[in-house]
Amino acid sequence: MSRFAVLTSGGDAPGMNAAVRAVVRTGVAHGHQVFGVRGGYTGLIAGDFSALGPRDVGGIIGRGGTVLGSTRCQQLRTDAGQEAAIAQMRTNGIGGLIVIGGNGSQAGNFALSRRGLRVVGVASTIDNDLIGADVAIGATTALDVALEAIDRLRVTAASHKRGFLVEVMGRDSGHLALVAGIAGGAEAIVIPELAVDPEAVAGQIRAAYERGKSHAIVVVAEGAKYNAQGLQNYFQEHAQRLGFELRVTTLGHVQRGGTPGVFDRMIATRLGVAAVEHLERDLHGVLLGIKDGRVGSTALAEVVGGIKPLETPLLDMASLLEK
Ligand code: F6P
Repeated sequence: MSRFAVLTSGGDAPGMNAAVRAVVRTGVAHGHQVFGVRGGYTGLIAGDFSALGPRDVGGIIGRGGTVLGSTRCQQLRTDAGQEAAIAQMRTNGIGGLIVIGGNGSQAGNFALSRRGLRVVGVASTIDNDLIGADVAIGATTALDVALEAIDRLRVTAASHKRGFLVEVMGRDSGHLALVAGIAGGAEAIVIPELAVDPEAVAGQIRAAYERGKSHAIVVVAEGAKYNAQGLQNYFQEHAQRLGFELRVTTLGHVQRGGTPGVFDRMIATRLGVAAVEHLERDLHGVLLGIKDGRVGSTALAEVVGGIKPLETPLLDMASLLEK
């Protein structure tokens, strides 16, 4: 029997709880003692963890957020913070750590791994910007939330013959905006990976109007050079003739707290089980994510600091279909 810990870190994502449940139940079923850390790395440094049993994770598979709690822990970026985290694990005889989270969380995980800790990461972020995961836990549910909003906004846009600039999350990445834009039938998509020319966006809106469309939906990534409000300001300052009157809707954190859909529950469960199996087989220093439909493992060294490229076919598809 071994002892290991699980924590959730960074922005909460729908499906994190399903992963925690899978880790705890698999670990206990295999004869291990599993510790749940409260409040991410902050809790690890403070020694805020306790052993969990199967009943402690009952009824959470369908709940958004994370029952363990989460933080963005600045202390873990420091030598002192990393040493304190490792000391807590060693003092309590805990030999392995599973970290469910996105880029910042896996960077912390990598730092602990370089100090000799046996760590396994589980890819979880609504931003879907992690190398090593075609689709991270939380992304599809967050997209469903964004799509429901876009569909509703299109109804209002068409009723009033208006345009909407809809801003979605994603931090520095356009993955969420690109998929929300394609699946939401947007007339234009604005993402950080492509240079934004507000004149070109105005041209796309005007062209939609001239083609006789009843509405124009522009999906804007929050990390783009001009976010939704920035574009609106530009259009107003430059008295652009767009045809449509424009409104701005920023979805923000609404996208994060959704009830996880079947896909997120399933991948979270598969990744949680696999994380335990990796620790058992002494395979560590890796991130587990869904790749080509299977559980894939990527060295944390490759994940951290890298930028996940956008899928070129999706970019081409977006510009073809927005007409
Ligand atoms: O990483 C998830 C995310 O929701 C990003 O899309 C967003 O930029 C960021 O977190 C917001 O962080 P916070 O909840 O700390 O404001």
